[in-house]
Amino acid sequence: MSQTPKSEKLFNRAIKVLPGGISRNAIFRKPYPFYAAHGKGCYITDIEGVKRIDFANNMASLIHGHCNEALNDAIKSQLDKGIAFTMGTEAEIEFAEYMTERFTSFDKIRFVNSGTEAIMAAIRASRAYTGKVKIAKAEGAYHGAYDYAEVSENSKPDNWGDIEAPNNNPVVFNTPKSALDEVVIFPFNDIERAINILDRHAKDLACIILDAIPHRIGFIPAQKHYMETLAKWAKNNSVLLVFDEVITLRADLGGAQSWFNVKPDLTAMGKMIGGGFPVGALAGSNEVMQVLNPLSDKVLFPHSGTFSANPMTMVAGHKAMQLFEGQEITKLNNLADRMRQQINEAISIADVPVCVTGAASVSKIHMMAETPTSYRDHFKTKKMKQLENRLIEYMAANGVLMVGTCSLILSTAMETKEIDRFSETFLNAMRDMKDEFV
Ligand SMILES: Cc1ncc(COP(=O)(O)O)c(C=O)c1O
Repeated sequence: MSQTPKSEKLFNRAIKVLPGGISRNAIFRKPYPFYAAHGKGCYITDIEGVKRIDFANNMASLIHGHCNEALNDAIKSQLDKGIAFTMGTEAEIEFAEYMTERFTSFDKIRFVNSGTEAIMAAIRASRAYTGKVKIAKAEGAYHGAYDYAEVSENSKPDNWGDIEAPNNNPVVFNTPKSALDEVVIFPFNDIERAINILDRHAKDLACIILDAIPHRIGFIPAQKHYMETLAKWAKNNSVLLVFDEVITLRADLGGAQSWFNVKPDLTAMGKMIGGGFPVGALAGSNEVMQVLNPLSDKVLFPHSGTFSANPMTMVAGHKAMQLFEGQEITKLNNLADRMRQQINEAISIADVPVCVTGAASVSKIHMMAETPTSYRDHFKTKKMKQLENRLIEYMAANGVLMVGTCSLILSTAMETKEIDRFSETFLNAMRDMKDEFV
């Protein structure tokens, strides 16, 4: 008899109508996903009645956890006025005013519906503005599900090629070679090699896309010198600098870009700026954003989207951002520092070959002793992946929900109590798993 009969029953229905029983691989789990019943604050309860602390927060989109009251009030008040119109709304203008005032590199903003769409728009805007076609990105970096953006995001030792010129690998079978050929891949946190590679393609590049704490590169923070040298290189070579802040906007009041001496031409956003609703946005300088301007004689980048800037997302996103300023950001980042410190203590008490990376309110646990600094060193063996899954399942069985990549994403609904509870459970897990590392 299954210990989770309700979930099993739902899954048996799901596999008949959804490939693999799911609508997105991020929730994939064997033998079947957890099914949510409801959430409140930083806790989520599944349909079996099991309550867990939520360290996934819908893949970093729920910055304030579940059912924040002020956010829900804003959402409910818009619900009664109407949810989408073939008209502009004051809500979108108010939110745009807020964002352009808060972020120094934003003169203009265009709202879309996902981070993928924001990156796609950034690439198209860069091409339209520069008249060039190629894009450059770091090996292993995830920038959403667009053919160009996903090239080499999951390269493996048997196909990643020479570090001096990494291979362009597709994610989806039969991606056109023509799309792969328009992408230049450089190694993450390796400035000399990156510049050598970029120099060879300078005249063809429309933009470089950078992420300061890339999730699929294990939430390893980008080195300051690497980011600033790439930014300078882009400027000197008339290549646009695009920051992917879909996750990292939470890092500081001015986003992760405020940590560096850089001014991106364009920033792609998503996740938390929707207050829980589907969202994306592209923002940047007046000059570059002009390519979208329908008042121009010749519009270089005509752009639309049925749900773009719908007022539900606009009011929720605006409220979520207003609730995430000053002390809230400091408090959240301090909680994450405390968590990483406690994880390190647990690793040393249990004496296991494990490490933790991360910055601001995102972290990742790696089943390796040496702290990785690049995509290639962070690459997991099959055994490491098994150990990660073992940890994730141990934590889930003991009241803690992690992201399937072994990552931890905090929300402002958390307090030290939840962090301490995580750390105690993690220490128990490490003790329990100790013999499995050999
Ligand atoms: C850095 C980064 N860029 C882009 C995306 C794509 O965003 P979305 O899933 O909203 O399309 C993601 C999603 O996880 C992301 O982490």
